[in-house]
Amino acid sequence: MKVQTLIIGAGAAGMMCAAHAGPDVLVVDHARAAGEKIRISGGGRCNFTNLHTSADQFISQNRHFAKSALGRYTQWDFIALVEAHRIPWHEKTLGQLFCDTSAKDIIAMLRAEMTRAGARLWLDTQIGEIGHDGSAFTVTLTREGRDMAVTARNLVVASGGKSIPKMGATGLGYQIAARFGLPLVTPRPGLVPLTFSDERFKPLAGVAAPVRVTAGGTGFDEALLFTHRGLSGPAVLQASSYWAEGDPISVNLTPGTDLLATLQGHRRSDPRKALTTILALYLPARLVDYLAGGMQLTGTMADQSDARLAALCAALADWQITPSGSEGYRTAEVTLGGVDTDALSSQTMAAKSVPGLYFIGEAVDVTGWLGGYNFQWAWSSGWAAGQAI
Ligand code: FDA
Repeated sequence: MKVQTLIIGAGAAGMMCAAHAGPDVLVVDHARAAGEKIRISGGGRCNFTNLHTSADQFISQNRHFAKSALGRYTQWDFIALVEAHRIPWHEKTLGQLFCDTSAKDIIAMLRAEMTRAGARLWLDTQIGEIGHDGSAFTVTLTREGRDMAVTARNLVVASGGKSIPKMGATGLGYQIAARFGLPLVTPRPGLVPLTFSDERFKPLAGVAAPVRVTAGGTGFDEALLFTHRGLSGPAVLQASSYWAEGDPISVNLTPGTDLLATLQGHRRSDPRKALTTILALYLPARLVDYLAGGMQLTGTMADQSDARLAALCAALADWQITPSGSEGYRTAEVTLGGVDTDALSSQTMAAKSVPGLYFIGEAVDVTGWLGGYNFQWAWSSGWAAGQAI
């Protein structure tokens, strides 16, 4: 069988590309349903883009690579598409846009766009050998128990990253890149909870606090959540993408407050109150109890000298802790790294060395922050490849 364009992966990027890649497009996926990650994203409401999207919210060895696609198919273009399909949406916080009703609205929209473009979709289809004779690709597919060869002029790899293998994520995109001699930036889990082998935070499980978490020189002001195994919450997920194994992270437990002046005020107004009682006005009480031993939070407010209060405030503003690892691909929202952008055109997502071969979405070494940025990259890169085809 012959098609003009074969797209591997019916996720966010693959479906978007299929809607824009012209006639005679076949999308294949081993999953039973298209867009499974869209379905579960954003707690079932899909954080489909972010009002503040720019290349600054993406991690890549080449921080300029994403600019072209993000600039040509923007968050405003995707919002216009959502509105044209009459999908109700709202802004939650920090420019994050969610469906009012269900993430399934986004999947239905993409399926409708694919149908409008005449693209076909084969689910439950296994991908086998991939050959290339210089002008066309031949891919062996297994469907309904039968093997068949599909020949295509263009091959678009939209098979995502390795995150959440239970949902069908595989390293297929990386294998295809290697098969064609394209370099990889080593993939690793991103937007992932951090763990501590000694389970030191177990007593704090369930405690949350607004903090600033900094890793690898980049900080995020959002919530931190203590878990049985370590640290989670948006601030930690964001910082995890910048964290290198073995390095400490810094947690500012009192961001945006002049805690020293506040505590000095309490020393005047509440001299007999325990330091821990006062700190519990500004931090979760269980966290104060936990910190009391290590930081020697003893005595009344009257007992605290200026030097002691200053040292305490400095310690709370730069609490250094070294995670032993992360929860890994099992729960990571994204995979950092991927096909090296040096090998791709930023205009078209085409491999520079193999005519007709494209990589889009999470398979590429472009990874967004938490907050709708990863889907925007899937839409923009899928659209860019579709336009080029
Ligand atoms: P995607 O993973 O969507 O699609 C890849 C497709 O390829 C899948 O359909 C898969 O079945 C198929 N495939 C893989 N291997 C294959 C093989 N060997 N053979 C055949 N088919 C194969 N982002 C965001 O912006 N806002 C959000 O709210 C969220 N929320 C969120 C929640 C959770 C729990 C996760 C895990 C992730 C998110 N994300 C997110 C990230 C977002 O889901 C992700 O970045 C995009 O789905 C990436 O789109 P792709 O199309 O590149 O891959």
